[in-house]
Order: sequence, then structure tokens, then C-alpha cells
Amino acid sequence: MTAIDLCMPPRLLAPGGTPADFRTHEQRYGSLPYGDPAGLLRIVAESGLTGRGGAAFPTYRKLVSVAEAGRSKGRGPVVIANGAEGEPASRKDKTLLRLSPHLVLDGLQVAAAAVGAGEAHLAVDDGASYLESALAQRHDPLSVRIVRLPAGFLSGQSSALAQYVGGGAALPSYQRRPVHERGVRRAPTLVQNVETLAHLALIARYGADWFRSAGTPAQPGSALCTVHVPGREVRVIEAPFGLPLGRLLPLNGIRAVLLGGYHGTWIPATEAAQLRLDAATLGAGVLAALPAAHCGLTETARVLRYLARQSAGQCGPCLNGLPRIAAAFTTLATPGPQGTTRADITHWSGLVDGRGACHHPDGTIRLVRSALTTFTAELDAHARGFCTATDGTPLLPVPAEEH
Ligand SMILES: Cc1cc2nc3c(=O)[nH]c(=O)nc-3n(C[C@H](O)[C@H](O)[C@H](O)COP(=O)(O)O)c2cc1C
Ligand code: SF4
Repeated sequence: MTAIDLCMPPRLLAPGGTPADFRTHEQRYGSLPYGDPAGLLRIVAESGLTGRGGAAFPTYRKLVSVAEAGRSKGRGPVVIANGAEGEPASRKDKTLLRLSPHLVLDGLQVAAAAVGAGEAHLAVDDGASYLESALAQRHDPLSVRIVRLPAGFLSGQSSALAQYVGGGAALPSYQRRPVHERGVRRAPTLVQNVETLAHLALIARYGADWFRSAGTPAQPGSALCTVHVPGREVRVIEAPFGLPLGRLLPLNGIRAVLLGGYHGTWIPATEAAQLRLDAATLGAGVLAALPAAHCGLTETARVLRYLARQSAGQCGPCLNGLPRIAAAFTTLATPGPQGTTRADITHWSGLVDGRGACHHPDGTIRLVRSALTTFTAELDAHARGFCTATDGTPLLPVPAEEH
């Protein structure tokens, strides 16, 4: 069970951890205004909302690109709410969908109205039957189809989603043109994370100034974070940008923090204590504390083996490079002679980075490089044949670890 901590009055998650039905939702937030698309786009621009699916891309710019592509092609765009949450350490999107499905569905309608869409989908990875009943309670202008995705790290990548919704495989596509120009059945397609849509639903109601009353002038608003602290249950916390990380997770007795998720970065605990919640590093919203008793190299090696298995096997550098890097990292994680392994990993990382049809290799290499700089003391200890860690219990969640 995921608990919710209040670092600010919660905006997105229904209070008390009780899912909100449509009536309760409307009583709490008021009914959804459908202003004119131009006015809506202006408010979104003023709000400074950025995507919460990992890349923090300005939402306004994406909405405008999709609307323009739809007009120039004379074709109504497709909108997809991305609830895939393929990141194994993240719980925020499932928690949001379970507690506040109507905020996401409101946001989907707002986004569809803003870009002039003729088709809307909500993509999720499980059989969440409550979403069907949530939809049945509503009278939306645009009907929404629920799409159940195959489980996997890549299913939520935007071109994989667009292909799957269009009847193909849930794999990233090779095409150079972005999905906002050419997505589902070649129609301009807006893919927006479910949390982004929930913020959009509130911005449409309460305006840009309200949204900006949390966060910082440069990074307005709040974000849902999945916080892992060993010995405690995983929590989803809504926190304003600019909040010191030390307010979200205890940093005493901690070796390092994984920030952003498995495409994110390791940061030494001393450095994390100086940092604030920042959209540029928050990635998929994961913050995971690694206690001093655990080995960061072992944890990273396990995650890397998982990420290598998730490669869709379509691009050479990713297909060959990631398993090789993951295997070499497993050598680094094992105390004993390391030979040229560290230099090899650095070399192969340079060959893989930026060479895939999607950003899976780039995100994986980001994790590798941050582990190599954060865990230098552990690397040296392993090379001398011992490990400073005393607890070998696996910490980070990794589906179906290989034997
Ligand atoms: C390998 C990979 C996996 C991804 N998985 C997800 C995911 O599970 N959920 C998600 O919202 N975005 C995911 N993304 C990002 C999406 O491609 C897309 O940028 C995002 O859904 C856009 O929404 P936003 O602008 O609201 O953040 C993934 C990206 C990559 C490269
Ligand atoms: S970069 Fe990797 S994960 Fe992405 S499409 Fe190519 S093989 Fe698949």
C-alpha cells in the first residue's frame, strides 16, 4: 500500500487515499471549463507546465506543434494519455490513476480540445477495471478508448505507444519524424504523461497564477515523486519544485541517492543534501536512497542487466552494446581483478550513446556514467578484492531478475 505524505496541500491525489468517483471529483474541483482552444493554449503557456513523463518538455510547445500539424494535414490529431509507467521503481502514475482517475480524464479532454483531436486513448499497463467504470460515470465530448499495453520498459516510449495504438507492436519506431507529426496511423499524435494531463485539468480550471503559486518562478508547480527509503513502504509524495531533497528522504546513513529512475543518475548523499527538486533531474519522478551498508555497484549491475534485457533488439548499438556493458558492469560489481573493464565500459558507452532509434541506450548510459563517478571508492575497493557493503539484500525493484 502506498502512503501519501503532505509536503504541500495535495493538488492531484484524492485526500485520505480514497479513490474519487465523478460526483466527489466535481464537488472537489468544480466542473471542467472548455474555453476556446487559443485561450487554453495561452493559459498553458503562462503556466510553464512541463511534461512529467521523464523529459520535462514544455507542454505548451507540444500542444501547439500537434495542433499545427493537424491543421496543415487537414486531419484531426490523436491524443494518448500515457499511463504505461514502464519504470519499475515508479508508482506515481498508477497511484494517480487509482486515486484521481477523473483528473487524468479531464486533462485528456482538455488536451484533445486544445489540439482539435478527433480520437483519444488512455494507455495503461494493467487490467485496471476501475477506469472503465470511471469512464462510464462521465459524459465527455470525445469518447476515450482504454488501451492495455504489454508490460515492459519500452511500452511507454511515445513511438512504441503510437504504433501499438495503431495496431502494431509496442516497440519504438525507426522513423525520423516525431509522433507529434506522424504517429497513430500517420496522424499527428499528442502523447502526454497522465500526471501532466492531471496538472492540465487543474490549470484549465484555476489558471496559470494558481499553478505558479507552488514551485519556483523557473520551475513552477509540483510533481508526484515515488520515494524509496529502505525499511519503509514506498511512498508517492506530491512535492513542489525547489523543495530540498532532504525533505523528501532522510540522507543520514545514506551512501547515495538514485534520482529520476533507471534512466536517471546516482548522486552521492553529500551532494544530494545540497540539491532541490528539479524538473531537469527528476526524470520519471523516482528518488531512491541507497544506505551505506549496500553496494551501489551491485544495485546498478542488477538494473543494467534488466535494462539490457528490455532493449527491443532493433538497433545494433543497443542490441549488442547494452548486454556487453551490463555484463562488464557485473564484473565491476564483483570484488576481484578488473583488468580493463572500467575503461571498456567507458569506451562502449561512447559508442552506444545517441545511436538508437529511441533514447533507451542514452538513458542507460546516463545511469552507467553516474555510477562510475559516484561509486569510485567502491570501484577501488572491488579492484583490491573486497567490498565495503555489509548488506547484500537487493533494494531496487527489478522485474524477473535472471539467474
Ligand atoms: C525507453 C522509454 C520509456 C518511456 N516510458 C514512459 C512511460 O512509461 N510513461 C511516460 O509517461 N513516458 C515514458 N517515456 C517518455 C515518452 O516517450 C514521452 O516523452 C512522454 O510520455 C511524453 O509525455 P510528457 O510530455 O507529458 O512527459 C519513455 C521514454 C523512453 C525513451
Ligand atoms: S535504441 Fe534499443 S530500445 Fe530503442 S528502438 Fe533501438 S534497439 Fe530498441
